[in-house]
Amino acid sequence: MEITLNNAPATTVETACLVLGVFEDQALAEPAASIDAASDGSLSKLIAAGDINTDGQQTVMLHGLPGVSAERILIVGCGKADRFDRVSFQNACMAAGKVLREHTVTEAHICLAELPVESMDAHWRTRQAVFAFDHANYLYTTTKPLKDGKAQPLAAASFSGGADLQGALEEGIGLGIGFRTARELGNLPPNICTPIYLAKEGKRIAASYDNCSVEILKRRAMAELGMEALLNVGQGSSNPPRLVVLKYQGAAAEEKPFVFVGKGVTFDTGGISLKPRESMDEMKYDMCGAAAVIGAFEACAQMQLNVNLVTVVAAVENMPDGKAYRPGDVIGSMAGKTIEVLNTDAEGRLALCDALTYSERFEPQAIIDVATLTGACVVALGHHASAIMTHHDDLAAELEQAGAKAVDRGWRLPIWDDYQSQLKTPFADMKNIGGLPAGAITAGCFLSKFTEDMRWAHLDVAGSAWKWNANEGATGRPVGMLTQFLLDRQG
Ligand code: BES
Ligand code: MN
Ligand code: ZN
Repeated sequence: MEITLNNAPATTVETACLVLGVFEDQALAEPAASIDAASDGSLSKLIAAGDINTDGQQTVMLHGLPGVSAERILIVGCGKADRFDRVSFQNACMAAGKVLREHTVTEAHICLAELPVESMDAHWRTRQAVFAFDHANYLYTTTKPLKDGKAQPLAAASFSGGADLQGALEEGIGLGIGFRTARELGNLPPNICTPIYLAKEGKRIAASYDNCSVEILKRRAMAELGMEALLNVGQGSSNPPRLVVLKYQGAAAEEKPFVFVGKGVTFDTGGISLKPRESMDEMKYDMCGAAAVIGAFEACAQMQLNVNLVTVVAAVENMPDGKAYRPGDVIGSMAGKTIEVLNTDAEGRLALCDALTYSERFEPQAIIDVATLTGACVVALGHHASAIMTHHDDLAAELEQAGAKAVDRGWRLPIWDDYQSQLKTPFADMKNIGGLPAGAITAGCFLSKFTEDMRWAHLDVAGSAWKWNANEGATGRPVGMLTQFLLDRQG
């Protein structure tokens, strides 16, 4: 999508569609007020007649208003002005974006960043509007191309605002690119998006920016490092595992990097502890943690942020097979700790523990892993929040604030030592499952055993990474939270 700024008065912008927001309980403000004035009170008459629904997220398309250059006007109802917060602003932008996505128009001018949103400034409002319209106009077409004659996504959008908002535009574009990559990877079927495919995607991104590089570790290199846990997960698959290490240098070489680690289980059958057949297909999304860290990496490189970043993806497929690892196996790990595998479906933590140990070499300022780790997380928080687990209160606060700002929110769960007893076993240093109580937390506790010397946080995105009922697919979350976290930590 081509994204530009246009500072011309709303009445004079030549466009197929002008997008405006109106509140339920307020006199029309700019730019709606000048459209109303130019068109001899058309908007206020329609509102008074009840023909424009000003409730939150409702839209109306108007044609050929006199005195206005735009062919159409899309009005978005924004509800009550004093309840118009970041989330409702995002929802309003997404709702309008979706109408345009499903409409035959392929170009629009968007005047929503004028709306007052809590204490958020024009930079934030513009950035978020750009991102939301891009997000709403993403369409998965790789294995189902859009037919000729069908409504196309927007090809171009201009946003109201002058050159002072160019930085906001760039941020919105960067976020959009990162989210698109993450969503596309998530949506791709597991026969296309294999560990090798994730590695190729890493190579593509590294080749696109001068200050990026990539290193790909195959089985042999992983074995030499002692990554027994990760290798065991992949043993039953004919798609070999990969460790994808992306590096971005945006700050002085001696500055310690941030490290993002992603769970890239490209398909999770459960292995010998086979999952039930219902919805097993959804386990193609079990690499969404990897997709998000790759997307956040790309957003960071696109915005050329003033930080150093390393992204490590544990890409592996969990299949049942004669060679597969089994329940009861005791396996090692790169950290030297032994693990009793009591359920081969608790594979994410095994792949991640070695990727986390590997990441110690980067001496991270902070290390954040992202994983669709547990069904229990979905039970605990549903689909709206990503779970944040960390021993570091300051890091938890930084992630919570980043999530709130990017409208990609997280909520903290405790990982107190009290829970560690659930991982005890007489046969190894720990077992890979902690029983029914607090399943998301015991998974976090398992990972904490491998990150004791680092400033680490774990994000369980099992509920937030894709939409379950609607056929909207991968959300790209938490690319927003991660990218905002980096934006806020620039030197
Ligand atoms: N990838 C799943 C977690 C998952 C399940 C995410 C459903 C989203 C929706 C993970 O590998 C898994 O299977 N976890 C098990 C852990 C259990 C065996 C301790 C789970 O949550 O059931
Ligand atoms: Mn599993
Ligand atoms: Zn899994």
